[in-house]
Amino acid sequence: MTAGPFIFAMPGSGQQGRDLAARLGAEMGILETRRFPDGEAYVRIGSLVAGREIILVCSLAKPDEQFLRLVFAARTLRELGASRLTLVAPYLAYMRQDKRFHSGEAVTSTHFADLLSREVDRLITVDPHLHRHKALSEIYTIPAVTLHAAPLLADWIAANVERPLIVGPDIESEQWVSDVADRAGAPYVVLRKERRGDRDVEIAIPDLGAWVGRRPVLIDDIASSGRTLIETARGLTGRGLRSPVCVVVHALFADDAFAELSGLAERIVSTDAVTHPSNGIPLAGLLAGALQA
Ligand code: R5P
Repeated sequence: MTAGPFIFAMPGSGQQGRDLAARLGAEMGILETRRFPDGEAYVRIGSLVAGREIILVCSLAKPDEQFLRLVFAARTLRELGASRLTLVAPYLAYMRQDKRFHSGEAVTSTHFADLLSREVDRLITVDPHLHRHKALSEIYTIPAVTLHAAPLLADWIAANVERPLIVGPDIESEQWVSDVADRAGAPYVVLRKERRGDRDVEIAIPDLGAWVGRRPVLIDDIASSGRTLIETARGLTGRGLRSPVCVVVHALFADDAFAELSGLAERIVSTDAVTHPSNGIPLAGLLAGALQA
């Protein structure tokens, strides 16, 4: 009988690794990491991995800090004889700079995809930010599985929000927003967003008077600077709607964004793709299903 996969969790992904191991009945591998006094990374694999299939769990919410450690772990696993390496990265970083908007800019989505494709054999991720790239296969040269959290978001909304009105902040989100609304059995509206800079977002809100009795549920794939959700929440309440519930897949929430949004929202909930106090929608079942397929 061949031994099952080993799960190795990179720093910050321990809980997700253990949840997956429990669902799959898989063994947790021993991974030791620390920083040398000068900030360089120390990585040690403490399990016998020869011939074993490996699942590396690593949220890439802080990719610059995480990436080298991930490379060192992946390369060491291979040197020690591990067989296929699957990276489970529920949040996939560097997907938003998908074009050279100004001369000389690095198209980091493409470079990051190239770097990651050299290190692992397969990638499993959740709702990557696909905009100008329509599929991960356009930039990743390894098999890359895209999972969707929409059904989980819809289930959470249906179970927790009375008379919801699903609100998408921008026109690009319409397909996704309509899917969540459909699954949750709720109406939806899509707003118009203009982004002028990293932290400068304007949301145009039409007359939503017909929906005043409903609870707005803002959904977005990523909360990064948080400006999209903050400006939308402020705009909706300014127009007499109830304070919104915010539901996001990837809760990055830079700086004080979460605190500011908390002052405007009825409730904020996220999937655990990125570890954050707002986590309330676990992804372990979705991820485990993909690993068992
Ligand atoms: C944009 O296209 C995305 O769907 C999100 O709305 C965006 O990334 C959110 O960014 P921020 O939180 O910085 O407004």
